[in-house]
Amino acid sequence: MDQSRFVALDPALVCHDLVLGPGSVHALATDSLVVSFVSPLLVEQIGHGGSLRVTFDETHTITLRWGKATTAGAAGRLQLEVEPSDCTALADLMTLVRKNQHISICATRDVEATDRYTGLEEVTLLPCALPDLDWSDLDTSTWFLGSRFRFPLLITGMTGGLARGAEINLRLAKAASAFGIPMGVGSQRVALDNPDHASIFTVKKAVPDLFLIGNIGIAQLLSANATDLCQRAVDMIAADALAIHVNVLQEVVQVEGDRNFRGVLNKIEAIAKALSVPLLIKEVGVGLDPTTAQRLMEAGVAALDCGGKGGTSWSMIEGERASSSVTRAVAQTFRDFGIPTAVSLAAIRAALPHVSLAATGGIRDGLMVAKACALGANVCGIGLPLLRAALESEDAVHQQLTTFAQGLRIAMVVTGARSLSDLVRRAHRSEQFFSLVDRFTTTEPVSRSTPRY
Ligand SMILES: Cc1cc2nc3c(=O)[nH]c(=O)nc-3n(C[C@H](O)[C@H](O)[C@H](O)COP(=O)(O)O)c2cc1C
Repeated sequence: MDQSRFVALDPALVCHDLVLGPGSVHALATDSLVVSFVSPLLVEQIGHGGSLRVTFDETHTITLRWGKATTAGAAGRLQLEVEPSDCTALADLMTLVRKNQHISICATRDVEATDRYTGLEEVTLLPCALPDLDWSDLDTSTWFLGSRFRFPLLITGMTGGLARGAEINLRLAKAASAFGIPMGVGSQRVALDNPDHASIFTVKKAVPDLFLIGNIGIAQLLSANATDLCQRAVDMIAADALAIHVNVLQEVVQVEGDRNFRGVLNKIEAIAKALSVPLLIKEVGVGLDPTTAQRLMEAGVAALDCGGKGGTSWSMIEGERASSSVTRAVAQTFRDFGIPTAVSLAAIRAALPHVSLAATGGIRDGLMVAKACALGANVCGIGLPLLRAALESEDAVHQQLTTFAQGLRIAMVVTGARSLSDLVRRAHRSEQFFSLVDRFTTTEPVSRSTPRY
């Protein structure tokens, strides 16, 4: 059995074969699954084919027909090949399982960059001992995606999983509305595949004044009807904008991830032209390089999220899901890979002075928000801390956002900045920062001595 093709399930899923009886599913691949049955059987006793009912989250049942059985590694375990016609159902099951695994891994394990280095460490806001302003003078408002918001904060799109997705999204939505800030939902793929799941995302029914950003991944753009799919995602939730997440590192580390990224920019261009709302392109932890940022703007995109390194590492999360030691080792190698958030932000701002720009990736307090705004962010996206708060309660989300807003206000007062644009003049960047921005802005390889091969 080739372990690198399989996602381990811990805990296992309950299953039931019409003939072989009750059992457990221990691992999934795109065309097969690993099972054991309560009554252990030898491969020779099993025959050819059967119908397996797999229960997910106690409420969802997926039926898969399988053709061939072989022994799989551990004693009593069998690898069942799923009939090609049922591989779509298997893919749905994998998506549902994956989302739940993402949530439980993010809730309980260390999934951030090991050094937590965002580049904001290289930025100092110069204090002003006697600011000529009153707390009530502070203007924390900002523009993003053509709308005005009370704070430069964005609840960045996060999958809530199937079981708790609706509850998590509602908690986040209510808090976003109370603070007058935008909110993104996580990937709507599950609901695009199965409209029964749309209720996870339709938070505007309860919070109609919310500025809501839909979400889809580049992997879904490969389908022939990508523009149609994007418009359906928007219509499903009455979104005010759509985010397409660019997550190449995650896909290639992920055991069942996509490997083909050809033609994505052309698709994005077609979508940007046809979509009824503005399009946002967001990186998710590797950082958007300025050359790609420029190409995206030429393709008609309305806003960018630099999604830099320093916060949640999707390589790490996928490594935590994998059963293969190879995948786990590779995931660890790329845990800290990418352009630090502040460096990506500054490089894009230098190349595109007028772009509507979000800075996400490792933003953990109000002082970091102030520094990112000083570097030119219109909003700062916050992910993991708000996901963990939302798993707890609506109040916990409120508390987190209050802490960010309060920290930002204090940073403004102690630097004498009445508005976010005033922060720009108070920012000092270290030499290291300039050299990092230069490093990631260089498009041509620097030739010190030409190697000969
Ligand atoms: C549990 C979880 C689920 C996420 N799901 C999505 C998603 O479906 N779509 C997306 O664009 N980004 C997703 N993200 C990425 C976040 O939007 C954000 O870019 C990333 O977490 C970096 O921010 P952070 O360091 O503050 O967590 C998810 C993040 C977390 C923690």
